[in-house]
Amino acid sequence: MERGRYLAVLGDCAGCHTRAHGAPFAGGLPFHAQFGTVYSTNITPDVKTGIGGWTQGQFYRALHDGIAADGSHLYPAFPYAYFRRLTRQDTADLYAYLRTLKPVHQPPTSNRLTFPFNIRALMTFWNWLYLPHDAPKPEMMKSAAWRRGEYLVNGLGHCGACHTPKNILFGDVTGKELTGAVVDHWFSANLTGSRAEGLGNWNEADLVIYLQTGRNRYATAAGSMQEKVTSSTSHMRQEDRTAIATYLKSLAPHRLNTRVAPDATRMAAGQAVFIQHCVVCHQPPQRIAGPSIPLPDYPRLGGDTLVAGRDPTTVLRIILQGAQSPLTPNAPIAYSMPSFATLSDQQVADVATYIRARWGNGASSIGRSAVHKLRAALKGEARNN
Ligand code: HEC
Ligand code: HEC
Ligand code: HEC
Repeated sequence: MERGRYLAVLGDCAGCHTRAHGAPFAGGLPFHAQFGTVYSTNITPDVKTGIGGWTQGQFYRALHDGIAADGSHLYPAFPYAYFRRLTRQDTADLYAYLRTLKPVHQPPTSNRLTFPFNIRALMTFWNWLYLPHDAPKPEMMKSAAWRRGEYLVNGLGHCGACHTPKNILFGDVTGKELTGAVVDHWFSANLTGSRAEGLGNWNEADLVIYLQTGRNRYATAAGSMQEKVTSSTSHMRQEDRTAIATYLKSLAPHRLNTRVAPDATRMAAGQAVFIQHCVVCHQPPQRIAGPSIPLPDYPRLGGDTLVAGRDPTTVLRIILQGAQSPLTPNAPIAYSMPSFATLSDQQVADVATYIRARWGNGASSIGRSAVHKLRAALKGEARNN
């Protein structure tokens, strides 16, 4: 049971199976994709609305093959393609742990999917295309920490579910593992060793601190990563965070774009917005503090990998919606940034262009239409929640 509890932390079961202000594990959290919205289900042991009536075998089949107790196919918003690497013992322990939860009567929220994606049987085809058939060969030449990290990243911790680019059918694009993707209108970062757009400048200690507290000298966790840190990585054992760092630092640089410096007019326009609205909190960086030096309360945006990411979605979203620094056992006070939705599309594009190219960040400029599109998408998403 205790082993199962910790596996649930590593796999972040509660993070996805708990809706905002809802009962833990009772489901109802929405997942948005191009073809509609899928809601997580109730996995408390309630017999009517949860998985109280499921056998251990049925539970294994759900995690391993994406098939529910009634034989219907589950959608890959449930990351079973990664959970497939759990052993029988792992799923037995998880099952034992979930049985100890208080049963919550909470009927499932109906999915809203467009044709033909509303047909669950279609997933047979998806599984045939994208479900890994064999577990990867164990890399005996690597250290135990590396192997543990590899398993946590590509298996139970399902980092690729957000960090690997997806094709139109929501399958992982092969050859671009962990290079960053837009999922649910957040751009997750490139986690490979590229200095220009990945974790090339981070050391293992930076990664461990980030996974533990959601902050370090290079970035602050936002959006879906903030949820991941709050519900999963901040509760991991230190040796597991170190294992993840060991594995990620072994990834070869993989850079997907080339950068074009924005022109001087755009930079001047962006600087004007920055001075008026942002500089009160975001001091221009003098130098980056070492990992042992206390971090400033407000991120300095220079050398910030989130800001300089290949895709600007996360940066634009933070400007439009505001943000709050993560609350973790180690950081009990949250600092907030207000929403700047009242700025025009052009102003948001300009200030984002400015911070992405200033202080050595070196990212390309952003057009007004990107802001316009994201605003519309976020409105649509809010309606579906
Ligand atoms: C990234 C989000 C995510 C994570 C992490 C996640 N789940 Fe789920 N899970 C879902 C969604 C979404 C569904 C519903 C899929 C569907 O309706 O086809 C689901 C469905 C399930 C089901 C099928 C239940 C049913 O009633 O049909 C089980 C069992 C399950 N999850 C268990 C787990 C366990 C155990 C973990 C942790 C190891 C976990 N999930 C982690 C998103 C997630
Ligand atoms: C639910 C989606 C999701 C999952 C799962 C997820 N991430 Fe993230 N991650 C994001 C998003 C979105 C960002 C970008 C926003 C940010 O930097 O806070 C991000 C950013 C990061 C960053 C910061 C990179 C940078 O350049 O700033 C690291 C490191 C990271 N993730 C590691 C991981 C690891 C390790 C895992 C698996 C244990 C993981 N993530 C799983 C969504 C996710
Ligand atoms: C009242 C203070 C305040 C103001 C004003 C403010 N911010 Fe922030 N900002 C914050 C805080 C606090 C965070 C950290 C939130 C988090 O953890 O994601 C943040 C985070 C960010 C981030 C993400 C950095 C990272 O590494 O996570 C970006 C980008 C950003 N702000 C841009 C801006 C821009 C552009 C403006 C002006 C239009 C602005 N901010 C104005 C307080 C502020």
